[in-house]
Amino acid sequence: MVSASVSNNSGRYGTATLSSEDQALLAQPLTLPFSGKVIKNRFCKAALSESLGRSDGHIDKEVLDRHVHLYDAWARGGSGLILTGNVMVDRTMREMEHNVAVEDLAELDHLKVWAQTVQKQGAALYAQINHPGRQTYACLTPAPVAPSAVPVSNFPSFIAINPPRELSNAEVKGLVKSFVQTSVVLYKAGFDGVELHAAHGFLISQFLNPRTNQRTDEYGSTPENRSRFLSEIVQGIKAATPKTFSIGVKVNSVDFGRQRKTQDGNGGMEKDLEEGVKVAVMLEQLGVDFIEVSGGCYESFAAGLMEGKGIPDDLDNLDGVQKTSTQKREAHFALFAERISSALSTTKIILTGGFVSATAMADSLKTTTAVAQKPHIDMVGLGRSVCTEPDLPNRILSGSVTGATRLPWLPGGYFSEVYMCGGNMRRMAYQKEPLSYLPWLFLSPDHAAYGMTYGRVITHKLMHPF
Ligand SMILES: Cc1cc2nc3c(=O)[nH]c(=O)nc-3n(C[C@H](O)[C@H](O)[C@H](O)COP(=O)(O)O)c2cc1C
Repeated sequence: MVSASVSNNSGRYGTATLSSEDQALLAQPLTLPFSGKVIKNRFCKAALSESLGRSDGHIDKEVLDRHVHLYDAWARGGSGLILTGNVMVDRTMREMEHNVAVEDLAELDHLKVWAQTVQKQGAALYAQINHPGRQTYACLTPAPVAPSAVPVSNFPSFIAINPPRELSNAEVKGLVKSFVQTSVVLYKAGFDGVELHAAHGFLISQFLNPRTNQRTDEYGSTPENRSRFLSEIVQGIKAATPKTFSIGVKVNSVDFGRQRKTQDGNGGMEKDLEEGVKVAVMLEQLGVDFIEVSGGCYESFAAGLMEGKGIPDDLDNLDGVQKTSTQKREAHFALFAERISSALSTTKIILTGGFVSATAMADSLKTTTAVAQKPHIDMVGLGRSVCTEPDLPNRILSGSVTGATRLPWLPGGYFSEVYMCGGNMRRMAYQKEPLSYLPWLFLSPDHAAYGMTYGRVITHKLMHPF
Protein backbone atom coordinates (compact mmCIF):
# COMPACT_ATOMS: atom_id res chain seq x y z
CA MET A 1 0.00 0.00 0.00
CA VAL A 2 1.22 3.52 -0.77
CA SER A 3 1.22 5.67 2.33
CA ALA A 4 2.62 9.09 3.06
CA SER A 5 6.00 9.51 4.66
CA VAL A 6 5.12 12.60 6.66
CA SER A 7 3.73 12.00 10.11
CA ASN A 8 5.08 14.93 12.08
CA ASN A 9 2.34 17.43 13.00
CA SER A 10 4.73 20.40 12.87
CA GLY A 11 4.58 20.29 9.07
CA ARG A 12 0.82 20.12 9.04
CA TYR A 13 -2.20 22.38 8.98
CA GLY A 14 -4.42 22.56 12.04
CA THR A 15 -3.58 22.94 15.69
CA ALA A 16 -5.42 20.03 17.30
CA THR A 17 -6.18 16.40 16.63
CA LEU A 18 -9.84 15.41 16.82
CA SER A 19 -11.72 14.62 20.00
CA SER A 20 -13.26 11.16 20.09
CA GLU A 21 -16.72 12.77 19.47
CA ASP A 22 -15.44 14.48 16.34
CA GLN A 23 -13.74 11.32 15.15
CA ALA A 24 -17.08 9.52 15.55
CA LEU A 25 -18.87 12.28 13.63
CA LEU A 26 -16.58 11.92 10.61
CA ALA A 27 -16.65 8.12 10.87
CA GLN A 28 -20.46 8.00 10.79
CA PRO A 29 -21.96 6.15 7.78
CA LEU A 30 -24.23 8.11 5.46
CA THR A 31 -27.27 6.62 3.72
CA LEU A 32 -28.00 8.24 0.37
CA PRO A 33 -31.67 9.12 0.05
CA PHE A 34 -32.68 7.80 -3.38
CA SER A 35 -30.38 4.88 -4.18
CA GLY A 36 -30.22 3.72 -0.55
CA LYS A 37 -26.44 3.32 -0.86
CA VAL A 38 -24.55 3.50 2.42
CA ILE A 39 -21.25 5.39 2.39
CA LYS A 40 -19.03 4.15 5.20
CA ASN A 41 -17.86 7.56 6.46
CA ARG A 42 -18.00 11.29 5.69
CA PHE A 43 -14.85 11.59 3.55
CA CYS A 44 -15.17 12.02 -0.19
CA LYS A 45 -12.08 11.89 -2.37
CA ALA A 46 -12.85 14.67 -4.87
CA ALA A 47 -12.51 14.22 -8.63
CA LEU A 48 -8.91 14.73 -9.77
CA SER A 49 -8.06 14.42 -13.44
CA GLU A 50 -5.36 11.73 -13.34
CA SER A 51 -3.95 12.06 -16.88
CA LEU A 52 -3.02 8.38 -16.80
CA GLY A 53 -4.97 7.23 -19.86
CA ARG A 54 -3.85 6.50 -23.39
CA SER A 55 -3.80 9.51 -25.67
CA ASP A 56 -6.88 8.13 -27.48
CA GLY A 57 -8.81 7.71 -24.22
CA HIS A 58 -8.94 3.89 -24.38
CA ILE A 59 -8.27 1.74 -21.30
CA ASP A 60 -5.71 -0.95 -22.07
CA LYS A 61 -4.07 -3.24 -19.49
CA GLU A 62 -1.31 -0.72 -18.67
CA VAL A 63 -3.80 2.10 -18.19
CA LEU A 64 -5.89 -0.19 -15.99
CA ASP A 65 -2.89 -1.16 -13.84
CA ARG A 66 -2.00 2.49 -13.26
CA HIS A 67 -5.56 3.28 -12.16
CA VAL A 68 -5.75 0.17 -9.97
CA HIS A 69 -2.58 1.13 -8.05
CA LEU A 70 -3.73 4.72 -7.56
CA TYR A 71 -7.30 3.89 -6.56
CA ASP A 72 -6.14 1.08 -4.29
CA ALA A 73 -4.07 3.67 -2.38
CA TRP A 74 -7.07 6.01 -2.06
CA ALA A 75 -9.48 3.21 -1.10
CA ARG A 76 -7.14 1.80 1.55
CA GLY A 77 -6.56 5.37 2.74
CA GLY A 78 -10.06 5.59 4.21
CA SER A 79 -12.22 7.77 1.92
CA GLY A 80 -15.77 6.38 1.98
CA LEU A 81 -16.81 7.84 -1.36
CA ILE A 82 -14.30 7.98 -4.18
CA LEU A 83 -14.91 10.04 -7.30
CA THR A 84 -12.78 9.35 -10.37
CA GLY A 85 -11.13 12.16 -12.27
CA ASN A 86 -13.37 13.38 -15.05
CA VAL A 87 -14.16 10.60 -17.54
CA MET A 88 -15.13 11.85 -20.99
CA VAL A 89 -18.40 10.84 -22.63
CA ASP A 90 -16.95 11.54 -26.10
CA ARG A 91 -13.35 10.55 -26.83
CA THR A 92 -12.99 13.26 -29.48
CA MET A 93 -13.81 15.97 -26.92
CA ARG A 94 -11.48 15.88 -23.93
CA GLU A 95 -10.44 18.17 -21.12
CA MET A 96 -6.85 16.79 -21.18
CA GLU A 97 -5.04 14.51 -23.59
CA HIS A 98 -4.76 11.56 -21.22
CA ASN A 99 -8.35 11.54 -19.93
CA VAL A 100 -10.08 8.19 -19.92
CA ALA A 101 -13.19 8.10 -22.16
CA VAL A 102 -16.09 5.64 -21.82
CA GLU A 103 -18.41 5.43 -24.81
CA ASP A 104 -19.33 1.74 -25.10
CA LEU A 105 -18.94 -1.75 -23.65
CA ALA A 106 -15.57 -2.44 -25.35
CA GLU A 107 -13.55 -2.12 -22.11
CA LEU A 108 -16.18 -3.39 -19.68
CA ASP A 109 -13.89 -5.97 -18.06
CA HIS A 110 -11.25 -3.34 -17.26
CA LEU A 111 -13.87 -1.00 -15.84
CA LYS A 112 -15.14 -3.84 -13.62
CA VAL A 113 -11.65 -4.34 -12.14
CA TRP A 114 -11.36 -0.58 -11.46
CA ALA A 115 -14.68 -0.60 -9.56
CA GLN A 116 -13.85 -3.76 -7.60
CA THR A 117 -10.46 -2.37 -6.54
CA VAL A 118 -12.23 0.36 -4.60
CA GLN A 119 -15.21 -1.68 -3.42
CA LYS A 120 -12.94 -4.40 -1.98
CA GLN A 121 -11.89 -1.85 0.63
CA GLY A 122 -15.49 -0.99 1.55
CA ALA A 123 -15.55 2.30 -0.33
CA ALA A 124 -17.94 3.36 -3.12
CA LEU A 125 -16.66 4.33 -6.58
CA TYR A 126 -18.43 6.93 -8.70
CA ALA A 127 -17.17 8.01 -12.11
CA GLN A 128 -17.31 11.72 -12.66
CA ILE A 129 -18.53 12.11 -16.23
CA ASN A 130 -17.86 15.17 -18.31
CA HIS A 131 -17.74 16.90 -21.67
CA PRO A 132 -15.51 19.98 -21.92
CA GLY A 133 -17.62 22.00 -24.37
CA ARG A 134 -15.64 25.15 -25.20
CA GLN A 135 -13.08 24.54 -22.40
CA THR A 136 -10.63 22.36 -24.29
CA TYR A 137 -7.19 23.12 -25.65
CA ALA A 138 -6.66 23.77 -29.37
CA CYS A 139 -4.11 20.95 -29.65
CA LEU A 140 -6.73 18.45 -28.42
CA THR A 141 -9.90 19.79 -29.96
CA PRO A 142 -9.41 22.06 -32.95
CA ALA A 143 -13.17 22.60 -33.36
CA PRO A 144 -14.87 22.77 -29.94
CA VAL A 145 -18.63 22.94 -29.47
CA ALA A 146 -20.71 24.83 -26.92
CA PRO A 147 -24.28 25.96 -26.26
CA SER A 148 -23.40 29.25 -27.98
CA ALA A 149 -20.40 30.57 -29.89
CA VAL A 150 -18.94 32.43 -26.89
CA PRO A 151 -15.14 32.06 -26.68
CA VAL A 152 -13.19 31.49 -23.43
CA SER A 153 -11.61 34.76 -22.34
CA ASN A 154 -9.35 35.75 -19.47
CA PHE A 155 -7.17 32.61 -19.76
CA PRO A 156 -3.34 32.65 -19.91
CA SER A 157 -2.40 33.92 -23.38
CA PHE A 158 0.34 31.30 -23.86
CA ILE A 159 -2.35 28.59 -24.12
CA ALA A 160 -4.49 28.29 -27.24
CA ILE A 161 -8.20 27.55 -26.91
CA ASN A 162 -10.18 27.77 -30.13
CA PRO A 163 -13.54 29.57 -30.19
CA PRO A 164 -16.47 27.13 -30.15
CA ARG A 165 -19.29 26.76 -32.64
CA GLU A 166 -22.91 26.55 -31.46
CA LEU A 167 -24.36 23.05 -31.12
CA SER A 168 -27.46 22.32 -33.19
CA ASN A 169 -30.63 21.28 -31.36
CA ALA A 170 -30.20 17.70 -32.63
CA GLU A 171 -26.59 17.64 -31.41
CA VAL A 172 -27.68 18.74 -27.92
CA LYS A 173 -30.14 15.84 -27.80
CA GLY A 174 -27.36 13.54 -29.03
CA LEU A 175 -25.11 14.68 -26.19
CA VAL A 176 -27.82 13.93 -23.62
CA LYS A 177 -27.78 10.38 -25.01
CA SER A 178 -23.96 10.23 -24.75
CA PHE A 179 -24.07 11.03 -21.02
CA VAL A 180 -26.77 8.37 -20.55
CA GLN A 181 -24.90 5.78 -22.62
CA THR A 182 -21.68 6.31 -20.61
CA SER A 183 -23.65 5.95 -17.37
CA VAL A 184 -25.23 2.68 -18.53
CA VAL A 185 -21.77 1.26 -19.32
CA LEU A 186 -20.50 2.32 -15.88
CA TYR A 187 -23.55 0.75 -14.24
CA LYS A 188 -22.87 -2.51 -16.08
CA ALA A 189 -19.25 -2.32 -14.91
CA GLY A 190 -20.43 -2.23 -11.29
CA PHE A 191 -19.68 1.41 -10.45
CA ASP A 192 -21.82 2.64 -7.56
CA GLY A 193 -22.91 5.69 -9.48
CA VAL A 194 -21.92 8.67 -11.57
CA GLU A 195 -21.27 12.27 -10.68
CA LEU A 196 -22.23 14.70 -13.45
CA HIS A 197 -19.66 17.47 -13.75
CA ALA A 198 -21.84 20.58 -13.89
CA ALA A 199 -19.17 22.87 -12.40
CA HIS A 200 -15.92 24.62 -13.37
CA GLY A 201 -17.15 25.95 -16.70
CA PHE A 202 -17.43 22.66 -18.63
CA LEU A 203 -20.29 21.83 -20.99
CA ILE A 204 -23.16 21.33 -18.50
CA SER A 205 -22.08 24.45 -16.63
CA GLN A 206 -21.93 26.32 -19.98
CA PHE A 207 -25.59 25.45 -20.50
CA LEU A 208 -26.54 26.66 -17.02
CA ASN A 209 -24.70 29.97 -17.29
CA PRO A 210 -26.48 32.85 -19.13
CA ARG A 211 -23.10 34.30 -20.09
CA THR A 212 -22.21 31.23 -22.16
CA ASN A 213 -25.72 30.09 -23.09
CA GLN A 214 -27.39 32.56 -25.42
CA ARG A 215 -29.57 30.00 -27.18
CA THR A 216 -33.13 30.76 -28.18
CA ASP A 217 -34.40 27.15 -28.41
CA GLU A 218 -35.74 25.06 -25.51
CA TYR A 219 -32.17 24.77 -24.07
CA GLY A 220 -31.66 28.52 -23.58
CA SER A 221 -33.03 31.95 -22.60
CA THR A 222 -34.87 31.16 -19.31
CA PRO A 223 -33.32 29.54 -16.20
CA GLU A 224 -35.67 26.55 -16.71
CA ASN A 225 -34.51 26.13 -20.30
CA ARG A 226 -30.83 26.52 -19.39
CA SER A 227 -31.15 23.70 -16.87
CA ARG A 228 -32.98 21.43 -19.34
CA PHE A 229 -29.74 19.84 -20.65
CA LEU A 230 -28.84 18.76 -17.08
CA SER A 231 -32.36 17.63 -16.19
CA GLU A 232 -32.71 15.55 -19.37
CA ILE A 233 -29.38 13.82 -18.60
CA VAL A 234 -30.51 12.98 -15.05
CA GLN A 235 -33.91 11.76 -16.26
CA GLY A 236 -32.26 9.72 -19.02
CA ILE A 237 -29.88 8.00 -16.57
CA LYS A 238 -32.75 7.31 -14.15
CA ALA A 239 -34.79 5.74 -16.93
CA ALA A 240 -31.91 3.55 -18.17
CA THR A 241 -30.52 2.26 -14.84
CA PRO A 242 -32.07 0.72 -11.70
CA LYS A 243 -32.93 2.83 -8.66
CA THR A 244 -29.84 1.55 -6.82
CA PHE A 245 -27.53 3.23 -9.33
CA SER A 246 -26.73 6.52 -7.68
CA ILE A 247 -26.44 9.98 -9.26
CA GLY A 248 -24.57 12.97 -7.84
CA VAL A 249 -23.92 16.36 -9.42
CA LYS A 250 -21.00 18.74 -8.90
CA VAL A 251 -22.35 22.28 -9.18
CA ASN A 252 -20.88 25.73 -9.10
CA SER A 253 -22.38 27.57 -6.15
CA VAL A 254 -21.59 30.76 -8.00
CA ASP A 255 -19.61 31.73 -11.02
CA PHE A 256 -17.65 34.39 -9.21
CA GLY A 257 -15.48 35.39 -12.16
CA ARG A 258 -15.01 39.13 -12.17
CA GLN A 259 -16.28 39.37 -15.75
CA ARG A 260 -19.71 38.23 -14.69
CA LYS A 261 -19.85 40.99 -12.14
CA THR A 262 -18.79 43.67 -14.63
CA GLN A 263 -21.22 42.57 -17.28
CA ASP A 264 -24.19 42.17 -15.01
CA GLY A 265 -23.70 45.14 -12.75
CA ASN A 266 -25.42 44.99 -9.38
CA GLY A 267 -26.41 41.67 -7.95
CA GLY A 268 -24.62 39.43 -10.46
CA MET A 269 -23.40 37.08 -7.79
CA GLU A 270 -26.68 37.06 -5.88
CA LYS A 271 -28.52 36.13 -9.07
CA ASP A 272 -26.01 33.32 -9.68
CA LEU A 273 -26.62 31.97 -6.23
CA GLU A 274 -30.41 32.12 -6.53
CA GLU A 275 -30.14 30.16 -9.76
CA GLY A 276 -27.76 27.69 -8.10
CA VAL A 277 -30.36 27.10 -5.38
CA LYS A 278 -33.11 26.56 -7.98
CA VAL A 279 -30.96 24.03 -9.86
CA ALA A 280 -30.29 22.19 -6.58
CA VAL A 281 -34.03 22.01 -5.81
CA MET A 282 -34.70 20.68 -9.32
CA LEU A 283 -32.01 18.01 -8.82
CA GLU A 284 -33.57 16.93 -5.54
CA GLN A 285 -36.95 16.62 -7.26
CA LEU A 286 -35.32 14.45 -9.93
CA GLY A 287 -33.88 12.09 -7.31
CA VAL A 288 -30.22 13.11 -7.20
CA ASP A 289 -28.47 11.58 -4.14
CA PHE A 290 -25.91 14.30 -3.54
CA ILE A 291 -24.80 17.69 -4.71
CA GLU A 292 -21.12 18.56 -4.45
CA VAL A 293 -20.67 22.31 -4.04
CA SER A 294 -17.72 23.94 -5.78
CA GLY A 295 -17.17 27.09 -7.83
CA GLY A 296 -15.09 28.82 -10.50
CA CYS A 297 -14.14 28.01 -14.09
CA TYR A 298 -11.06 28.34 -16.34
CA GLU A 299 -11.69 32.09 -16.45
CA SER A 300 -11.41 32.37 -12.66
CA PHE A 301 -9.63 29.13 -11.82
CA ALA A 302 -6.51 30.24 -10.01
CA ALA A 303 -8.28 32.86 -7.97
CA GLY A 304 -11.42 30.95 -7.15
CA LEU A 305 -11.27 27.19 -7.23
CA MET A 306 -7.93 26.62 -5.59
CA GLU A 307 -7.28 29.65 -3.42
CA GLY A 308 -10.76 30.84 -2.58
CA LYS A 309 -10.00 34.40 -3.62
CA GLY A 310 -12.76 36.67 -4.85
CA ILE A 311 -15.44 34.96 -2.79
CA PRO A 312 -17.40 37.39 -0.63
CA ASP A 313 -17.40 36.97 3.10
CA ASP A 314 -21.02 37.25 3.98
CA LEU A 315 -24.05 36.61 1.88
CA ASP A 316 -25.75 39.85 2.87
CA ASN A 317 -23.04 41.75 1.11
CA LEU A 318 -22.50 40.04 -2.20
CA ASP A 319 -20.57 42.81 -3.83
CA GLY A 320 -17.93 40.52 -5.26
CA VAL A 321 -15.15 42.43 -3.53
CA GLN A 322 -12.54 40.30 -1.85
CA LYS A 323 -12.05 40.78 1.87
CA THR A 324 -9.04 39.60 3.77
CA SER A 325 -10.92 37.36 6.19
CA THR A 326 -12.33 35.39 3.25
CA GLN A 327 -8.94 33.91 2.78
CA LYS A 328 -8.74 32.82 6.40
CA ARG A 329 -11.87 30.71 6.04
CA GLU A 330 -10.89 27.18 5.17
CA ALA A 331 -13.80 25.81 3.21
CA HIS A 332 -14.15 28.27 0.35
CA PHE A 333 -17.76 27.57 -0.51
CA ALA A 334 -19.20 26.90 2.98
CA LEU A 335 -21.59 29.84 2.97
CA PHE A 336 -22.89 28.96 -0.46
CA ALA A 337 -23.29 25.31 0.49
CA GLU A 338 -25.32 26.35 3.52
CA ARG A 339 -27.62 28.49 1.36
CA ILE A 340 -28.16 25.62 -1.09
CA SER A 341 -28.58 23.07 1.69
CA SER A 342 -31.26 25.14 3.43
CA ALA A 343 -33.45 24.81 0.35
CA LEU A 344 -33.20 21.00 0.29
CA SER A 345 -34.81 18.36 2.47
CA THR A 346 -33.31 15.03 1.38
CA THR A 347 -30.46 15.38 -1.11
CA LYS A 348 -27.05 15.30 0.64
CA ILE A 349 -24.39 17.98 0.34
CA ILE A 350 -20.66 17.43 -0.17
CA LEU A 351 -18.52 20.51 0.38
CA THR A 352 -15.21 20.57 -1.48
CA GLY A 353 -12.50 23.19 -1.73
CA GLY A 354 -9.97 24.40 0.82
CA PHE A 355 -10.28 21.88 3.67
CA VAL A 356 -6.92 21.30 5.35
CA SER A 357 -7.46 21.04 9.12
CA ALA A 358 -9.16 18.15 10.91
CA THR A 359 -11.20 20.40 13.18
CA ALA A 360 -12.61 22.44 10.25
CA MET A 361 -13.69 19.19 8.60
CA ALA A 362 -15.53 18.01 11.72
CA ASP A 363 -16.99 21.47 12.42
CA SER A 364 -18.47 21.68 8.92
CA LEU A 365 -20.68 18.67 9.72
CA LYS A 366 -22.06 20.38 12.82
CA THR A 367 -23.87 23.34 11.26
CA THR A 368 -27.59 22.64 10.99
CA THR A 369 -30.47 24.12 8.99
CA ALA A 370 -33.89 24.98 10.32
CA VAL A 371 -35.33 22.37 7.94
CA ALA A 372 -35.84 19.31 10.14
CA GLN A 373 -32.61 20.09 11.99
CA LYS A 374 -30.81 18.64 8.99
CA PRO A 375 -27.03 19.20 8.82
CA HIS A 376 -25.95 21.72 6.16
CA ILE A 377 -23.00 19.65 5.08
CA ASP A 378 -23.04 15.85 4.99
CA MET A 379 -19.60 15.03 3.58
CA VAL A 380 -16.20 16.66 3.31
CA GLY A 381 -14.51 16.61 -0.12
CA LEU A 382 -10.71 16.41 -0.27
CA GLY A 383 -8.70 17.01 -3.45
CA ARG A 384 -5.11 18.22 -3.28
CA SER A 385 -4.46 16.91 0.23
CA VAL A 386 -5.05 13.25 -0.69
CA CYS A 387 -2.54 13.51 -3.54
CA THR A 388 0.20 13.92 -0.94
CA GLU A 389 -1.40 11.59 1.60
CA PRO A 390 -3.90 9.10 0.21
CA ASP A 391 -4.50 7.89 3.77
CA LEU A 392 -5.25 11.30 5.26
CA PRO A 393 -8.86 10.26 6.13
CA ASN A 394 -7.57 7.26 8.14
CA ARG A 395 -5.01 9.41 9.91
CA ILE A 396 -7.63 12.01 10.83
CA LEU A 397 -10.12 9.36 11.95
CA SER A 398 -7.52 7.76 14.19
CA GLY A 399 -6.80 11.13 15.80
CA SER A 400 -3.12 11.01 14.91
CA VAL A 401 -2.84 14.18 12.80
CA THR A 402 -4.07 17.76 13.02
CA GLY A 403 -4.61 18.12 9.29
CA ALA A 404 -3.08 17.88 5.83
CA THR A 405 0.63 18.20 5.13
CA ARG A 406 1.77 21.73 4.28
CA LEU A 407 3.31 21.71 0.83
CA PRO A 408 6.11 24.05 -0.19
CA TRP A 409 5.05 27.23 -1.96
CA LEU A 410 5.84 27.28 -5.66
CA PRO A 411 5.34 30.18 -8.06
CA GLY A 412 2.74 29.60 -10.76
CA GLY A 413 -0.46 29.37 -8.68
CA TYR A 414 -2.96 26.94 -10.16
CA PHE A 415 -0.44 25.31 -12.51
CA SER A 416 2.01 24.58 -9.66
CA GLU A 417 -0.74 23.00 -7.60
CA VAL A 418 -1.71 20.84 -10.53
CA TYR A 419 1.96 19.93 -11.14
CA MET A 420 2.43 18.81 -7.52
CA CYS A 421 -0.82 16.82 -7.42
CA GLY A 422 -0.48 15.33 -10.89
CA GLY A 423 3.10 14.20 -10.24
CA ASN A 424 2.09 12.55 -6.99
CA MET A 425 -0.89 10.80 -8.60
CA ARG A 426 1.50 9.47 -11.22
CA ARG A 427 3.91 8.27 -8.53
CA MET A 428 1.14 6.36 -6.77
CA ALA A 429 0.05 4.90 -10.12
CA TYR A 430 3.56 3.45 -10.40
CA GLN A 431 3.48 2.29 -6.75
CA LYS A 432 5.85 4.95 -5.43
CA GLU A 433 5.45 7.16 -2.37
CA PRO A 434 4.04 10.65 -3.00
CA LEU A 435 6.43 13.52 -2.28
CA SER A 436 6.12 16.70 -0.26
CA TYR A 437 9.73 17.91 -0.02
CA LEU A 438 10.57 20.65 -2.53
CA PRO A 439 13.94 19.39 -3.86
CA TRP A 440 12.49 15.90 -4.45
CA LEU A 441 9.46 17.41 -6.19
CA PHE A 442 11.83 19.06 -8.65
CA LEU A 443 13.92 15.95 -9.17
CA SER A 444 10.99 13.56 -9.54
CA PRO A 445 10.75 12.10 -13.08
CA ASP A 446 7.04 11.46 -12.48
CA HIS A 447 6.42 15.14 -11.83
CA ALA A 448 8.41 16.01 -14.93
CA ALA A 449 6.39 13.47 -16.95
CA TYR A 450 3.13 14.89 -15.64
CA GLY A 451 4.33 18.41 -16.42
CA MET A 452 5.00 17.25 -19.97
CA THR A 453 1.29 16.50 -20.41
CA TYR A 454 0.95 20.29 -20.49
CA GLY A 455 3.94 20.52 -22.85
CA ARG A 456 1.86 19.99 -25.99
CA VAL A 457 -0.80 22.38 -24.71
CA ILE A 458 1.77 25.17 -24.32
CA THR A 459 3.98 24.47 -27.35
CA HIS A 460 0.92 24.43 -29.61
CA LYS A 461 0.61 28.20 -29.19
CA LEU A 462 4.30 28.69 -29.97
CA MET A 463 3.92 26.64 -33.15
CA HIS A 464 0.66 28.35 -34.17
CA PRO A 465 0.98 31.92 -32.85
CA PHE A 466 -1.87 33.35 -34.97
C1 LIG B 1 -4.71 18.00 -10.40
C2 LIG B 1 -6.14 18.38 -10.22
C3 LIG B 1 -7.10 17.81 -11.05
C4 LIG B 1 -8.46 18.11 -10.88
N1 LIG B 1 -9.37 17.48 -11.67
C5 LIG B 1 -10.71 17.69 -11.45
C6 LIG B 1 -11.68 16.94 -12.18
O1 LIG B 1 -11.37 16.09 -13.01
N2 LIG B 1 -12.98 17.21 -11.91
C7 LIG B 1 -13.37 18.12 -10.96
O2 LIG B 1 -14.57 18.30 -10.74
N3 LIG B 1 -12.48 18.82 -10.26
C8 LIG B 1 -11.15 18.60 -10.46
N4 LIG B 1 -10.24 19.26 -9.69
C9 LIG B 1 -10.75 20.12 -8.60
C10 LIG B 1 -10.91 19.30 -7.31
O3 LIG B 1 -11.90 18.29 -7.43
C11 LIG B 1 -11.31 20.19 -6.12
O4 LIG B 1 -12.57 20.79 -6.41
C12 LIG B 1 -10.27 21.27 -5.86
O5 LIG B 1 -8.96 20.73 -5.87
C13 LIG B 1 -10.52 21.96 -4.51
O6 LIG B 1 -10.45 21.01 -3.46
P1 LIG B 1 -9.14 20.94 -2.49
O7 LIG B 1 -8.99 22.30 -1.87
O8 LIG B 1 -9.44 19.87 -1.47
O9 LIG B 1 -7.97 20.61 -3.35
C14 LIG B 1 -8.87 19.02 -9.86
C15 LIG B 1 -7.90 19.61 -9.05
C16 LIG B 1 -6.54 19.29 -9.21
C17 LIG B 1 -5.54 19.90 -8.29
